[in-house]
Amino acid sequence: MDEKATGSFYTPDTLINYMVAYARDRIVPLNILEPSAGDGRFVPLLKEFNCPITLIELEKTKTDILHEIFDNECEIIGSDFLNYAIKHDKKYDLIIGNPPYISKKSVPSDQRNASLDLIKHFELEETLFQNIWVSFILGSLKLLSDNGAIFFILPFEFLQVQYAEKLREFLEKNFNTIEITTFEDRIFTTIEQDICLVYLSNEPKGKPYIQYTTFVSDTDKTQTFQSVIMRNKPLKKWSNCILNDNETEKLKQISDTFPKVQSFGEISPGIVTGANSFFIVSKKKISSFKMKPMPKLSIISKCSVIPSLLDFKSEDFSAIVNTGARSYLINLNDIKEETFSTYLNEYIAGGLEKDKPLNERYKCRIRKRWYDVPIIKTGEACFFKRFHRFPRVIINSAGVYTTDIAYNIRFKPDYEAASFVFCFYNSLTLALCEYSCRFYGGGVGELVPNEFKALSVPYSEISQENIQHLDELLRNETELAEIVDYVDSIVLEELLKDDIEFLQEIRTRYIKRRMKLYDRTDNS
Ligand SMILES: C[S@@+](CC[C@H](N)C(=O)[O-])C[C@H]1O[C@@H](n2cnc3c(N)ncnc32)[C@H](O)[C@@H]1O
Repeated sequence: MDEKATGSFYTPDTLINYMVAYARDRIVPLNILEPSAGDGRFVPLLKEFNCPITLIELEKTKTDILHEIFDNECEIIGSDFLNYAIKHDKKYDLIIGNPPYISKKSVPSDQRNASLDLIKHFELEETLFQNIWVSFILGSLKLLSDNGAIFFILPFEFLQVQYAEKLREFLEKNFNTIEITTFEDRIFTTIEQDICLVYLSNEPKGKPYIQYTTFVSDTDKTQTFQSVIMRNKPLKKWSNCILNDNETEKLKQISDTFPKVQSFGEISPGIVTGANSFFIVSKKKISSFKMKPMPKLSIISKCSVIPSLLDFKSEDFSAIVNTGARSYLINLNDIKEETFSTYLNEYIAGGLEKDKPLNERYKCRIRKRWYDVPIIKTGEACFFKRFHRFPRVIINSAGVYTTDIAYNIRFKPDYEAASFVFCFYNSLTLALCEYSCRFYGGGVGELVPNEFKALSVPYSEISQENIQHLDELLRNETELAEIVDYVDSIVLEELLKDDIEFLQEIRTRYIKRRMKLYDRTDNS
């Protein structure tokens, strides 16, 4: 089997050294389990604990090797760990290792069933099972002794993905000691995922806490960051442990004094076509259908086509159209088929000739006519849900539609889109975007609709002159720090200088981590 199918990415010895030394400082186990042993590379160091070691490994070729090397020293079980965990009750004091990462759709059916059994065993929701590492945590929990510890290498996403929120909450109830170790450098360079180490235990004394520590790498053990959360539990996203209790409370206290995005109007994600590359076409393509009137809607399906700006005008949209970018949605709603041109009929027929005909795709199949894309209202402002350098929100003066890449806002009469968009670029709202988002490899952040709606925006009415000035600053690609200072000076006037500095500092801390912007200048 290939590496990816069995989630086999071997742990560097330096990291194993670190983990075993870490565990040695915290626990004296009477027995140890490594549930995804691979070639047994943890074993030489685990032997230092001088207690029985059990190794579980699924793949026969690997268990054969384990038997060859460790037969006299370890108990070796050739089995799927998840089925083993369901069927057995033997308890272990230290369960340590690097479980496989395999997404739900690639998990073989017997392991999927075992995963669901484990979820049932703990009375959790089935939606939790999105990746096999979730099942490894639950299986380990089932086999853990009362004062035992689990110490795993997990994908960084465990700390922040929404589907694992219930698991994190559950673990917070089950363990009073949660210690997370992260690294500035990527440890596994062949996988896209960043990883973290998670140590879970129940210490006989002491208050529950979550601790977050960062080191440069597995080879350079310089500690660059540490913070602890004790009061703000459950912490929903453990990645937010990069703020300590005081900072978390201060951020909440400042944000509570301002209105939330949801109070400004109606918010909805944009249009879901079911097949963007078929339904969203260039000007040239839509003209080739020779329909009168042209069945089109102006649409943005990629945030990157919009240059840096505040106010998105018709001229800006025309400029995008003229680059040949796909900017028109074929909108055939309410148009009778008899009136379709031959060219349009040919294009539609082409959609049925694909490997997987479009009319069989779920989103299209459920429509009365598979090519009638439901139109969702656009907004006077659009917030793009994914962001890189910083979150983007625009005044939609061009009145274009968007796909579901954006949340469209239609304002209540008391609010103006332009003022809202201007005010959004302040230190508090941008810090909250970082606090609330999750991020993926490459540092792309994302806010789901409810997270966007819960952001606080210090709104005030802004003069046309100021709006124009900010539009120019953005169009001139001015440094973000200067832009934020300018907006802060207008919309956060009432905050203390210290509070603004605090917001800027935590935002920088988040961005640094998300985009891995670590300063490596050697000061020695
Ligand atoms: C990420 S590798 C870790 C190997 C080794 N422990 C290390 O740290 O280098 C994961 C291992 O889990 C094994 N594995 C995958 N699914 C398994 C399952 N359901 N039960 C037990 N082992 C499994 C793979 O064959 C692979 O050897």
